[in-house]
Amino acid sequence: MKNINDSHKTSSLNDCRLITLNKHHHENGNLTVVESNKELPFDIKRIYYIYDVPGGAERGGHSHIECASFLIAVSGSFNVEITDGVDKQVFTLNRSNMGLYIAPGIWRTLNNFSSGSVALSIASHDYNPEDYIYDYNQFLELTASKRNND
Ligand code: TYD
Repeated sequence: MKNINDSHKTSSLNDCRLITLNKHHHENGNLTVVESNKELPFDIKRIYYIYDVPGGAERGGHSHIECASFLIAVSGSFNVEITDGVDKQVFTLNRSNMGLYIAPGIWRTLNNFSSGSVALSIASHDYNPEDYIYDYNQFLELTASKRNND
């Protein structure tokens, strides 16, 4: 069994970034393509999407030990707040061809979903409940001890 302290990545907000995707413009509509290791800095393993979010609801509220993510507002808009345990940044995602790359070891919260919005999440790993840190205090402890030891 892996030790969380050893495997939890310590990323900084500098490891996260907005990525503008291609847009194949056509008078009959636009098309955007996302492929492993081209637009994104990881192999795509899994895709899921969040929709029908009630007004005022919040999603996320966790970090991942190993999994990297890429979030896109394919429809509508929502905010993503990310923190590495020291710095915090809020991004508003509202374009179908722009997404936020979130490195492993970063705490994220999604909120302010517009009505009818769809949050597409592209992930580097299979779903694994053991890859999640849901306790913010544990996250702060893990990132602080890593920062002090690295
Ligand atoms: P959860 O991780 O709580 O959603 P979020 O953090 O994005 O708000 O997941 C909600 C439910 O969906 C939970 O019961 C676990 C399940 N789930 C899967 O079965 N597979 C997956 O890949 C994901 C992301 C969630």
